[in-house]
Amino acid sequence: MTIYRIEELVFGVEDRAACARFHADAGLDPVVLDGEGPDGEGDADVFTTPEGQRIILKSIGDPSLPPPAEAGSGLREIVWGVGDRAGLDRIAGDLARDRAVQVDGEGVVHSRDETGFGIAFRLRRERQVATEPLPRVNSVRQVQRWNDPPLLPGTRPRPVRIVHLALNIPKAGHREAIDFYLRRLRFRATDDIADTGTFMQCEGDVEHHNFFLCHRPDSAGINHFALEMRHFDQLIERGNHMVSCGWRESRVLGRHLLGSNLYRFFASPAGGRLEFACDMDRMDKDFPTRRWDRNPGHHIWTLKSSGIGAEGRNG
Ligand SMILES: [Fe+2]
Repeated sequence: MTIYRIEELVFGVEDRAACARFHADAGLDPVVLDGEGPDGEGDADVFTTPEGQRIILKSIGDPSLPPPAEAGSGLREIVWGVGDRAGLDRIAGDLARDRAVQVDGEGVVHSRDETGFGIAFRLRRERQVATEPLPRVNSVRQVQRWNDPPLLPGTRPRPVRIVHLALNIPKAGHREAIDFYLRRLRFRATDDIADTGTFMQCEGDVEHHNFFLCHRPDSAGINHFALEMRHFDQLIERGNHMVSCGWRESRVLGRHLLGSNLYRFFASPAGGRLEFACDMDRMDKDFPTRRWDRNPGHHIWTLKSSGIGAEGRNG
């Protein structure tokens, strides 16, 4: 029953046109389905990563959506990608012991987690991106790049995949909410922070986290999801494009402490925030869960500026 990744995130939103523009500006590709499409004519606006994961945007009152965990635009269903049909059947059988489970016409298993978020499980789509070489780095007496600039200017790099999702959950019952994923769905905890929440890895992936349940805000709703860029220059360039498109940056550029990922965050009209991330730690099965009584801190560094203007100079 191995879960490999986030397969789809389904949102119920108040302004579909703005949400479609936001995800297109983030570098995702529109998908045209039968009777649906990015033109707003159908039931959903659908976007895909190069790895075949989907963002699905539906109108907030769409009766096909699971009930909301929070008021307003937000995440309504998290669809996890499973390796095979037998795994889906095992998950459906296990969940049916203590909660309602529906299997739709496409064989997708739908249910709810302890917080009330819609969860679903489907076969993962097989789609792998060709791996281009990473930029080489030059330093003193360590030259990786001779007679060659690092990048072509003016590129507009696209994210590769949805790499993680962070949800807010209430403090009351937070241990049961987290244990549901650890014990029933075989996630592994990488960092467990008593006053904040738990970072988790799907059984079939090696990221520091694919999933974070955070009880510190003591509310239920989406915190953010992250699109992975291949390297730092790409993270900066895609973020700059978002700024140029008028989207509001909601956190200063930095590098997280737990997970070590570089990040840029933008407020999303679909609810919560969108993170562009890269260079996250990878943990194998031998990595022991780190347990913290108190949050060790949010970041290693964040960008500080002395107020340099948009032209990049101050005198
Ligand atoms: Fe994140």
